[in-house]
Amino acid sequence: VTFAESQPQHGGGLVSAAQRLSVHPREILDASSSLAPFRPPLKARLASAFASVRHYPDTSSFLLRSLISNVHDLSPEYICIGNGAAELITWVARDAAATGLSLLFAPGFGDYLRALRLWQARFRTIPFSLGLIHPSAHAEFPALPPGDVLWLTYPHNPTGHFWTRDCVLSALDQYRLVIVDEAFLPLAPNGESLSLIPLVPDNPNLIVLRSLTKLYGIAGMRLGYAVGAPSRLINWSTWRDPWPINTPAYEMGCSLISNPKNYSSWCSKVQAWTATELHWFVQCLSRFQCLDTVPSAANFFLIFSKYDLSPLRLGLEVRHKILLRDCSSFEGLGTHWLRLGLQSRSRNVRIVNALDATLRALCY
Ligand SMILES: Cc1ncc(COP(=O)(O)O)c(C=O)c1O
Repeated sequence: VTFAESQPQHGGGLVSAAQRLSVHPREILDASSSLAPFRPPLKARLASAFASVRHYPDTSSFLLRSLISNVHDLSPEYICIGNGAAELITWVARDAAATGLSLLFAPGFGDYLRALRLWQARFRTIPFSLGLIHPSAHAEFPALPPGDVLWLTYPHNPTGHFWTRDCVLSALDQYRLVIVDEAFLPLAPNGESLSLIPLVPDNPNLIVLRSLTKLYGIAGMRLGYAVGAPSRLINWSTWRDPWPINTPAYEMGCSLISNPKNYSSWCSKVQAWTATELHWFVQCLSRFQCLDTVPSAANFFLIFSKYDLSPLRLGLEVRHKILLRDCSSFEGLGTHWLRLGLQSRSRNVRIVNALDATLRALCY
């Protein structure tokens, strides 16, 4: 097994796709990862962020924690900054391993299993039928076996649906630890009003994860945060290396989240884009008889077909330089499924045209 083959399957494999296709990464339209398609102006921010690289970062990340805590109206002790939400998944999984049996929905985000295996945690995946997702993009939990830790993605990946509020609230009474990954929540229309962050101070068994990489379209920067009981976060800080957040990412975060007003106007802009493009895209796809979509509230959605969609995915990649997320690594899905991350309108048009041409060529 080579190093490349050993890497877990995620969306966003832009560089390796460019190598495979012998083109520059700029020529590829990557709809396999799900990021906001625009960013706040970064040039000046990057220049000042890089000016401070001579020094070690502030190990306590105090300023950024304070700025984020202002956004959520909490005290900074409840916030822990991570090198992307992915780094924090590693530490929350260590808590999960020490707490008992973890329950996770399948299909679901694969990185949770990577982290649980690292700590030799006990876990069980719970299959849920995508048919349970209501047209409003909400779903109840399927029947759950006994367990100690519940992992929720909210909205869920790869479907983009929300779990109903009643289900989530009842989980807080039922489980010793509830991990809620809100990586995509600030991109979902009215997402913030559904966040569980306000419940953290009264529920020491609740931990919420957030990512800034999707919201600001800066996946290469690696920045996320956890919101949880201060004693838990202090424990994590004794396990991590002393400088998990590099200074440019830290400075960039401080500049992007300089005050709650900026943050909420950015979220509104991104959410307006999600609402418009999701509606537009799903409408466009309804004219393709052989494709169906799963109701989503997020900036990505699942496509499925009675046909194997591998030839479609490969045709889009090879002929049109468009990447969609292969779903064969998701438990319970397979090659009849693809996940598509919304783009700007012009890029969405490019995808629809390429889908049209490729489906015709395949005679689906
Ligand atoms: C549900 C979910 N959580 C967390 C992450 C990781 O986010 P980050 O880029 O902040 O590490 C991803 C990345 O795709 C994700 O899909």
